[in-house]
Amino acid sequence: MFKALIFCILFCLFGVTLYGQEQSLGRTLFNDQWKFCLGDNQDAKSADFDDSEWRKLTLPHDWSIEGAFSKEHPATNQGGALPGGVGWYRKTFSLPEKDEEKQVYIDFDGVYRNSEVWINGHYLGKRPSGYTSFRYDLTPYLKREGQANTIAVRVDNSQQPNSRWYSGSGIYRNVWLVFKNKVAIDHWGAFVTTPKIANEEAIVQQITSLKNLTGHPVATDVRITIYDQENRLVAKEQYRQSLQDTLTEATFQIKLAKPILWSVENPYRYQVKTQIFVNNQLLDEQRIPVGIRYFSFNARKGFSFNGEPKKILGVCMHHDLGALGAAVNKRAMERQLQLLKEMGANAIRVSHNPPAPEFLDLCDSMGFLVMDEAFDMWQKKKNKFDYSLDFEKWHKKDLEDLVKRDRNHPSVFMWSIGNEIREQFDSTGTRLTRELTAIVKEVDSTRPVTAALTETHFEKNFIAQANTLDVLGFNYKYEQYDSLPINFPHQNLLASETTSALATRGHYDLGYDTLRFWPPSAKEKFVKNGNSDYTVSAYDQVAAYWGTSHEQAWKAVKERDFLAGLFVWTGFDYLGEPVPYDYPARSSYYGIIDLAGFPKDVYYMYQSEWTAKPVLHLLPHWNWKDGQVVDVWAYYSQADEVELFLNGKSLGIKQKKNGEMHVSWKVPFQAGVLNAVSKKNGQTVLVKEIQTAGKPEKIQLKVDKSIMRSGVDDLAFVTVDIVDEQGNLVPTAMNELKFDVDGAGFLAGVDNGFQADLSSLKGSSKQAYNGKCLAIIQAKDIAGEIVLKVSAKGLEGAALKLAVVNDE
Ligand code: GAL
Repeated sequence: MFKALIFCILFCLFGVTLYGQEQSLGRTLFNDQWKFCLGDNQDAKSADFDDSEWRKLTLPHDWSIEGAFSKEHPATNQGGALPGGVGWYRKTFSLPEKDEEKQVYIDFDGVYRNSEVWINGHYLGKRPSGYTSFRYDLTPYLKREGQANTIAVRVDNSQQPNSRWYSGSGIYRNVWLVFKNKVAIDHWGAFVTTPKIANEEAIVQQITSLKNLTGHPVATDVRITIYDQENRLVAKEQYRQSLQDTLTEATFQIKLAKPILWSVENPYRYQVKTQIFVNNQLLDEQRIPVGIRYFSFNARKGFSFNGEPKKILGVCMHHDLGALGAAVNKRAMERQLQLLKEMGANAIRVSHNPPAPEFLDLCDSMGFLVMDEAFDMWQKKKNKFDYSLDFEKWHKKDLEDLVKRDRNHPSVFMWSIGNEIREQFDSTGTRLTRELTAIVKEVDSTRPVTAALTETHFEKNFIAQANTLDVLGFNYKYEQYDSLPINFPHQNLLASETTSALATRGHYDLGYDTLRFWPPSAKEKFVKNGNSDYTVSAYDQVAAYWGTSHEQAWKAVKERDFLAGLFVWTGFDYLGEPVPYDYPARSSYYGIIDLAGFPKDVYYMYQSEWTAKPVLHLLPHWNWKDGQVVDVWAYYSQADEVELFLNGKSLGIKQKKNGEMHVSWKVPFQAGVLNAVSKKNGQTVLVKEIQTAGKPEKIQLKVDKSIMRSGVDDLAFVTVDIVDEQGNLVPTAMNELKFDVDGAGFLAGVDNGFQADLSSLKGSSKQAYNGKCLAIIQAKDIAGEIVLKVSAKGLEGAALKLAVVNDE
């Protein structure tokens, strides 16, 4: 039987973590002064092991990205063609005198994978999942009074393949050292919700787990203060709470007058400060940024947010940061999100694993909705050594911890218990879905639970048959969308994954040959779409055989109110999964934006559809062979029509009809100037011009900022353009570039966005790809000046200076 029919589920939420991120008294970064050694050595767990020869480094660190691409790595090109292996990290430290009496914990945000941790030779435990955040209690094993303590971490990513994409290897997320009193708020022990939201008043509720390790009952005063975004005190309450046991759960409610709501357009956050006093002495304090918002799904009408209908305009994102590999860097994630925001995306699906906490902080503060996903597989594997081997023992803990960690983020609006899980095809899927949904609801009952499914028939879909999911996500199969409300009546529906179109940036004639191992039907589709009479015509027309073009997928979702929205596969290209291309391809072709962060042409299709700003984008470039017939496309918006001119001669006016998302002309190539003019009511809205470029002559540099901050891993992204005499980008230039960085920074990565480039992403040279390359400069921990010089044989070089100032 179907579960009780729920037409509309209302989820009121109140996220947490103030200006930036959640702060907790006594919690500090523990990233610097680590030692690292690639390779296994069991002796390294001992406190007195000699690591003086080991490499010194600062976390986060990903050793795989430092390796060379090769066909021989067991991860295969699906895993990024980079090495795995075993690595050890060690860090020696002594406790500050003032903290000698404290409970001391170490928090790892994520270690890929199979980490094992020792303190002073004492084994603390193992955590197989590479994406989970976890804590160990160091207190009983610490040496005090200035003596040295040593943490040793063994990371084992040697069994491969264990992932369908690039994972990275090592302690690739932040590590924290946490000093707490015996009376304190428990780890992930505060859960803030808003049981009531009205114009006049909201009720902010915090369920707080309080720890008491004193061994006797303690009377506490719990003071909760709410600040608005301008840091003005807006509400305050004090409660008397006695702690009888080691763990006490207490619920506090505070009224907040005239709440300002959090939304993707105005991600307004309050800060909830909780202080724990015993005999007027402050023992713990935590600040949680909170966004007040409500939303609902409806089986007929889709999604609404803060009472307004809203389409979820989402993209899927894997966690790597291109040339930086998996090593977390907040600025690099912020740049990704800025580009996606400008494109008009309002949601991210963190596929298919828990993200770095900082990613969610950014989504909170920048205004994105997040579908937070737990698993890519349950018991049935997708790869020989993947998480299916650990699922039985660890899924409960990993899932609980994910929800506890992330439940205060206003951006997180759905929990996904899995992607394309194979158990959807047999009855174990029903039992496991019920179990996993119950685990989530036990920790957070305010958000919907979903899964990304592929089976579109209820009687064959054992996950849907569990009848515990609040929203059913379907991946691909857009031709079947209209059957979904029939096959799954009264269910809330979402296009949890779409598209998987293949494209590079600036290069269009994708090779038919590479599809030789695809099924015949897929080849036919490709031939029909991509291999037309026109040499240059495959823009947004070549997709995985289970996928579709960007335009088709978006059109299908746009036209159906019952679909809450979509998540396009993918926002950015990512390392690994270059399907269907063989090695040397080693990163994916699916992104709307390439691995280096340069938008592909289709970016502007989304911008024209998903934003209110006027857009006019012309493609392709204008450097072809004389007489060659070229499909010229224009994406435009906020205009009625576009007129195209070649060397001053009109090639006609075009208008989008019947839901089309671009206009096109077939143009025999002639060197010169191609320009387009978009008009509304006869008035020019935008003009776009592309010139045939001459020979590569010069290097031009553009940087996203000129002043960097020291000590916070700040990055500057430098775009390198190869231009002709007149300064036109040469869209075919592939010159080898050399990078030289001096002063208060270093070269953190180089990339050209080409999926089959085998030179190192961490090296000091790189070929340009279609006229472009990216250099990522990282500030050191000192103030000063950075000089970047870029040179290439036969080209006029370029240099730029960046200032690094002390972080305030
Ligand atoms: C989907 C899968 C994604 C990715 C994609 C590539 O089926 O969920 O993880 O593999 O295909 O097209």
